[in-house]
Amino acid sequence: MTRRPLTQPKVRVLPDYESLSLTAAEAVAGKLRSEPEAIFLLPTGVTPLGMYRRLVEMHARDGLSFAGASFFNLDEYLGLDADHLASYHTYMRENFYGLVDADPRRVHVPDGSVSDPKEECERYEAAMKEAGGVDLCVLGIGRNGHVGFNEPGAPFGSRTRVVRLAETTRRVNAGDFEGGRAPEKAITVGMRTIFESREILLLASGANKSQAVAAAMKGEVSEAVPASLLRRHPEATFLIDREAAASIEEVA
Ligand code: PGA
Repeated sequence: MTRRPLTQPKVRVLPDYESLSLTAAEAVAGKLRSEPEAIFLLPTGVTPLGMYRRLVEMHARDGLSFAGASFFNLDEYLGLDADHLASYHTYMRENFYGLVDADPRRVHVPDGSVSDPKEECERYEAAMKEAGGVDLCVLGIGRNGHVGFNEPGAPFGSRTRVVRLAETTRRVNAGDFEGGRAPEKAITVGMRTIFESREILLLASGANKSQAVAAAMKGEVSEAVPASLLRRHPEATFLIDREAAASIEEVA
């Protein structure tokens, strides 16, 4: 990948999770209002739940419409059917897509149940490209600095592909699975595809993210910390709450 000069990452520190969620939801809503047919790349996890809740409220209360937009999700576990309780299909249906007027023809989540995952990855990557590329990508960050399921070491040039999950990630997510064992593999949109988004918003909340946020924002830009790649992006913003900002404020 061509090396870009480091840009100073934009960072907004919000007092708490509620204001972080509202700010993120307003960013999505603002994009929709200016570009009703915008293409979004969206995360799952605990962090974005508040943002989705706010967006659902804006739909119910203010009539915010998602009908013209296209949505892609960042990742899905390999080997799970769409209706598995812990699948990201289920998460998105229950927390967002099923509660607003998103057009099912424009909602995309990688299919983790396919017999040929490599083909599914290629299909998914091509679908994003065909849609015109991503206008706004919203990301969470793992405690190990991962984005999507791009774990430490993920090549910055990577595309949508099958990956092996880090043991730390499997432990953090184990509670979502009966028997406490998360799948070993997943499909994730790659670093390069994330980076090609026209705008990126990374959300981080809570003290258990502060080390990862500091490593991403203040350490070297390195594949060892996938989120650090955002420092080369001219339109990336770290949207973090005070607890997640604790370590950067120490270093600042
Ligand atoms: P979390 O996950 O929001 O559940 O902490 C974030 C991530 O792992 O990307």
